Amino acid sequence: MEDFSLDREYVMGNTLLDEQHKAILGYLKQMYDKVLAGKGSDELFAVMETLDVFFKLHFLDEETMLDEAGSLDLKAHVAENAIFVRHLEAFFAEMREMPSTTHAIDKILFLKGWFLEHLRHLVQEHVQTRAVKDLSTESEFRVS
Ligand SMILES: [Fe+2]
Repeated sequence: MEDFSLDREYVMGNTLLDEQHKAILGYLKQMYDKVLAGKGSDELFAVMETLDVFFKLHFLDEETMLDEAGSLDLKAHVAENAIFVRHLEAFFAEMREMPSTTHAIDKILFLKGWFLEHLRHLVQEHVQTRAVKDLSTESEFRVS
């Protein structure tokens, strides 16, 4: 059974973004389950449409939060998010061609792997940004 839960290592500590990441994995799981159960394309496409909108809104929230937090690598994250939207669009186009179950499952697992990698970068960066902020707060404290 494929696991789509949000592992501890992918938790950033930002409630809004963590909940959104959990929801995205939940949508990927719904798609996975529907493909495996051989559900009609209407049900699958309904989840895909929801996921598409949710992703785009999520990325806006994420980019705003990273900007406000003084992210060290905001541009790279914005680029990463844009790449994921492209992967998602390619996936949707392929699904409309009604691929085999195996192919559809492979693609969903690819999206999941890519998304977890995105989370790994995000968590690492979030920790680094906080560390740098802590250091600068510390040096400000020493000066004053
Ligand atoms: Fe994200």
